[in-house]
Parts: sequence; structure tokens; C-alpha cells
Amino acid sequence: MTAVGIDAIEIWTGKLRLDLPGTFAPFKGEDPEKYTKGLGLEASSFPDVYEDIVTMGANAAKRLMDRRGLTPDDVGRIDVATESAFDNSKPVSTYIAGCLEQVFDGDFHHANKGERKFACVAGTQSIDDAYNWIKAGRNRGRSAIVVATDTALYERGDPGEATQGAGAVAMLISEDPDVVELSTEQGYGSADETDFLKPNQQFPSVDGKRSVQVYLARMREALEDYESVAGDTHLDDFAYIPFHTPFPGMVRKAGLLGFRHMIRDTEIEADLAGEIGRQPREGEFGSREAYEDAIREYMDALKRTETYQDWYAAAIEPTLTISRQVGNWYTGSVHIARVSALKNAAETGRGLTGERLLVGSYGSGAQAEIHAETVREGWRDEIGRLGLDEQLARRYELSFEEYEQIHDAHNHVKETEIEELTQPSGEFVFTGWGRMNERKYDYIE
Ligand code: CAA
Repeated sequence: MTAVGIDAIEIWTGKLRLDLPGTFAPFKGEDPEKYTKGLGLEASSFPDVYEDIVTMGANAAKRLMDRRGLTPDDVGRIDVATESAFDNSKPVSTYIAGCLEQVFDGDFHHANKGERKFACVAGTQSIDDAYNWIKAGRNRGRSAIVVATDTALYERGDPGEATQGAGAVAMLISEDPDVVELSTEQGYGSADETDFLKPNQQFPSVDGKRSVQVYLARMREALEDYESVAGDTHLDDFAYIPFHTPFPGMVRKAGLLGFRHMIRDTEIEADLAGEIGRQPREGEFGSREAYEDAIREYMDALKRTETYQDWYAAAIEPTLTISRQVGNWYTGSVHIARVSALKNAAETGRGLTGERLLVGSYGSGAQAEIHAETVREGWRDEIGRLGLDEQLARRYELSFEEYEQIHDAHNHVKETEIEELTQPSGEFVFTGWGRMNERKYDYIE
């Protein structure tokens, strides 16, 4: 069977940086540790005034094509996943293709283009579409470019404001891929939920506390569904477990639930029983309430055990490094968690070829998806060529007043005159609106 998966990855971060504990927390009158320890965030990335979902996506895709020496003829699909789209008809992928045609010889006239929407899980769904297209033999030897691009901004004063971010991840999906092969087996947890939505409005309506519960419930269903086709999961099956990461504190909760699930009825549970007891089983309790109290107590004890902490430090913590520095990128978020893990392995000299990842994606509204990935031989070279660290270090540091102006500049219903804070160079920029209210872009040498 032909291996299909992620062949190359490139990232473009918004060029501005907001220090959350140092700049944001003091203005909000909050303890900086709510950010560093509670949410697990150091900084958010924001787009400069000439950046948007198109420029960030096109810049990531251009890097990908340059690095792999691709021409438009090599690409049979361009799919964009976003929850920040500004047009209900014309897809962002057409804008991105138009940008790329400004700088590459040839065109994408024979490439299928689309836009995927299901909150943050749409990036993973676009990879799925590309995977299925290749597996069905419809790709004519060509690859797909999947771009996950978002400006994850919240209304000012919304609790979600603490978790904002902006950036794009471009991925090349091909046969015989260099980074990871995707498993055929998948699990879904999907239900009609009202946790986070944007009913024709730019900033989301969010029930933050409920959204956390829905994330965990759907993720658990997806894991059970995955196990129903792939068999039980065990801790040592997976080198890393990248999750959708709206903020690292969310993954701390998901990781603990996943650990409890995976050790149930195993030697690990039995070994821990001497220290913290066996996991409560519902049948052993007279009421749901008593059972839930016992579960809470068990989880509190479980997270303090060395066995759990060692596993978390090895399998989960390394997936959070980039997220801590950039915040939530919605559709791109689980994909930077994967990159974070691979980067950690490369930096620590870990051999990863043939090892597996378990990837947990989530989109509000709500759907979780879980699949496995097998790391391919070319992964180290690919990850070693990412220019992400330089991009992160080069970001312009925002004052609180500048943050507010930038937030206003990206607010679709505000008229704001603000100068750019960085100088564009070697990138696509937004230049204004055309006669049909379309957005216009140029490449700046
Ligand atoms: N020191 C250490 N920790 C602190 C602290 C301090 N001084 N102050 C607070 N904390 C901890 C809290 O205990 C809490 O941790 P636990 O949940 O583990 O108890 C954490 O920091 C956050 O504090 P609060 O719960 O008080 O924060 P909040 O109510 O202001 O906001 C939130 C939290 C509701 C999740 C908010 O950030 C939000 O609405 N975010 C947007 C929605 C979201 O991201 N939901 C996630 C699931 S939905 C999803 O994943 C899709 C998506 O991308 C949006």
C-alpha cells in the first residue's frame, strides 16, 4: 500500500509579539502566573497591518514551494482551512494561488481549490481530503498543498483575549512522504454543540468554561472510536501525542484524561494502586455523584505521581513549546504541536524514524478526530530546515497601546489609521481593496 502523509511543512508567524505576563497581565490587573502557570502561555503572535490570513498562508506556501523546488505543475490541490475567512463565496485558496502565481512561473489553473470549515479541526480535515484524493488515485502524480491560516482574535475583554494568536502552517501532502505517514484508522467524536461559534460575525461568541468540557468529552469519544478500529492504545505505543492546543493548560487536562484511559486495566494501573488505589469504576458506586467525586480525587492523586509526570514530560510537554510563544492559531494549532514535538526530537538527538505519534484534533461546534502517524526517514532533514526560531526571535515587541491599535486595525468594523510596525521584505502584503471589494496583494522584494 502506498504511504501517504505529510511530506514537508512550513510555518509563517504573525510578525508582532505581545508579552502576556509582562505586558498584557499588568494592564488587565491580573497575576502574570495566570498566564505562565495557569494557561501556560508566554506570548501571542499578531499580524502587522499589512498581514492577514492570505499573506500569512501565501508566505508559508511560498517557503514550502521554494524549499522543495516545486512549480505550480507539481500541485494538484490547494486547500485552505480557516475560521477567519472574509468572504462567503470566493475561497481564500484562490487568493493564495493568485499570490503564488505572481512569483512562480506557470499557474494553478488545473489545481482543485477549496476552503474547509469546521472550526479548528478543519486543517486536519483538509489533510484528510488530500489523503483521500491521493489514495483514490486521482492526483496524477501531483501533491496537495494544505494551508491552515487564522487570525485568532477575540472581542476585547472576552476571557479568550488571553489566548489569541495569528499564523499559518503550510503542508505538502504526497505519496511516499518525508515527514509522517497517516494511519488509515481514525476515530471521531462529533456532536451538535454550542460552545464557540461565529454566526456571521468576526469575533467569536464563546462559552469558555463549557468549551473546555466539550473539548474533553469529544476527545474521549474520538479516542474510544479510534480504539474500536485500531485496538487499545498503550502509553509506549506513541513517542509524542500532539493535541489541538488553544492554550497549553487545555492540553494538561486532556493529557491527564488520556493517561487515565490508557493505563486502565494495565500493569501500570496495578503498579500505581499501592500508591493511589485503583481507578474508580462506576458500578462500584451508589450514585453518579459519588463516582464523580471519587474520579476527581483519583485524578488529583494521579497527576502527582512520578509515573504520570515522567510520561507527561516525555510525550506531551515537548508538543507545547511553540504554542507557549504564539498562542492559539485555531486551524494551525494541532499542526504546530506536531512540529513542536518533531523539533524537540531533532534538538535532543532522538531517533524517531518508524516511531508513532497519536494526533488529537478538535474543532468547536464540535468534533474531535484522532489518528496515528508513523515518522518517516526524511523527518530530521525537513524539520532542521524550518526557519521558525529566527521568525519568532524577529517579532516586533508590542506595547499595550500598540496592541490595542493593532487589534482595532484587524477589526473589520473599525476604521483605523495606523502605520505598520515592521518593514515587509521578501513577502506578500495586503495593499487594499479593489472595485468589487476584493482584497489586493503584492509581493515585496
Ligand atoms: N497562578 C496559577 N494559575 C492560575 C492563576 C495564578 N495566579 N490564576 C488562574 N490560574 C489558573 C486557573 O486555575 C485555571 O487553571 P485550571 O483550569 O487548571 O484550574 C487557568 O489558570 C485559567 O484561569 P481561569 O479559568 O480563571 O481563566 P479564565 O476564566 O479567565 O479563562 C478560558 C479561561 C475560559 C478557557 C478562556 O481562556 C477562554 O474563554 N478561552 C477561549 C476558549 C478556549 O480556548 N476554549 C478551549 C476549548 S475550545 C477549543 O479548543 C477551540 C478553540 O481553539 C477556541
